Amino acid sequence: MSEDEYDAFQSQDPSSYDLTLDPEQIRALGHQIVDLTINHLMTLRDRPAISVATNEQLHAQLGGPAPEEPGNISSDLNLLANVALENQQHGDHPRYFARVPSPSSFAAIAGDWLATGMDSVASSWGGGSGPSAIELITLEWLRDRIGLNPQCEGIMLSGGSMASITALITARNIKGEGCIYLSDQTHSSITRGIKAIGIPDALVRVIPTDKDLRIDVAQLREQIAVDRNSGFVPTVVIATAGTTNTGAVDDLEIIAEISETENMWFHVDGAYGGPAALTARGKAVMPGLARANSFVLDPHKWLFSPYDIACLWISDPGALEETFAMYPEYLKDVSDGTVNFHNRSLELSRRSRAIKLWLTIRTYGFNKIGAAIDRGIVLAEYAETVIQSTPELEVVTPAQLGIVTFTFNEPCDLAAIARELTESGFAALTTTSLKGQEVLRLCIINPATTELDVSETLKRLVQIYHLRADKSVESVV
Ligand SMILES: Cc1ncc(COP(=O)(O)O)c(C=O)c1O
Repeated sequence: MSEDEYDAFQSQDPSSYDLTLDPEQIRALGHQIVDLTINHLMTLRDRPAISVATNEQLHAQLGGPAPEEPGNISSDLNLLANVALENQQHGDHPRYFARVPSPSSFAAIAGDWLATGMDSVASSWGGGSGPSAIELITLEWLRDRIGLNPQCEGIMLSGGSMASITALITARNIKGEGCIYLSDQTHSSITRGIKAIGIPDALVRVIPTDKDLRIDVAQLREQIAVDRNSGFVPTVVIATAGTTNTGAVDDLEIIAEISETENMWFHVDGAYGGPAALTARGKAVMPGLARANSFVLDPHKWLFSPYDIACLWISDPGALEETFAMYPEYLKDVSDGTVNFHNRSLELSRRSRAIKLWLTIRTYGFNKIGAAIDRGIVLAEYAETVIQSTPELEVVTPAQLGIVTFTFNEPCDLAAIARELTESGFAALTTTSLKGQEVLRLCIINPATTELDVSETLKRLVQIYHLRADKSVESVV
């Protein structure tokens, strides 16, 4: 830069580059955000569980020429709330039963606000000791409450996909490359992750599931034996604690035994169902978690946190650092209990996802959180009884960890029925495919859901079914 240019730069009016806002304006904007959020939470039940606009509509309202000059932040906050944030799936809606809901609690929302407001960072201990300690403490609380191996060390990541990839990269680093075993019900993010980290298809074994859609352990044993006889080295077995399709839990005790005998890494994907281990009912269907080499759960699913947050634990102390540390000095991390979280995954700069979870646990306590999780388990069981007593419906898989699947007892277009109910705005639900059979599926994990929400949703599905059947008869006549 020439001297003249520098002088011109220096003589600029500071207000032309000053990004700070007046404290009173910040306070008013903060109140506006709180009001918009309260309005969202208080009116949610009466708004659609999911809204989708076209790209054209959204561009018309949110786009336009790239702004060159300052705009009006207050009216843009309203625009964001009313247009951008309205047009999405409301996973916190009490009748959002599709895919996996995300019933976040206000404590978690408040924690996330504060963490963002204070630019939280949990990368190195030196640069983020407070947020890093919060992450360690929260992971320890959950580890002990769930009953994982007390030696487990962990890290928080963006979601189940990244948490399982991180576990599998670690497993490969410790065990070397070899065969990986999973089931036909393993979440697709894991199969994608395996591909993405460069494990060839020739080393991946998809074991069929039994009639309960749990990994068939006899076939697992057989396949391991076949592979050993053919010169392959079995290294990793992946079980699911709460499949996305049906909530089924693989036989963790037997799979733990197999992996111990075979000297394999035992990974448990509890991204969906894992939080249920915080309740007595959930724990009862997940014996063997303490034997997992790695375990994942997603608080943005069933632990009342807004997106995004997943927890990963690894039972082998130092394994994460051994895999991900950027510098050999990583051993310093483990010597005094402090942790540089950038040495535990592929993320270097990282916000503190733990703050919202720490605040959730402090605000409600584990007893209340457990009761809120239990409520989902019980509501799905209630849905099952309503389905059983509805002549047009039949249960396909029983209520398991908040999920029940079902169908109509006459052939019909299930996807169209689910779509019609979803488009009505009353509730959102989806179909899924169980070994080629299409079924309707309810995932009920929001403690704000009532029995009436469930029964009315089923009633409306049946009404749509009859109306469609009548119309098709009319069209034939
Ligand atoms: C069992 C299971 N594993 C993994 C995932 C992927 O999690 P995420 O979407 O948080 O990456 C999901 C998502 O629904 C899941 O249900």
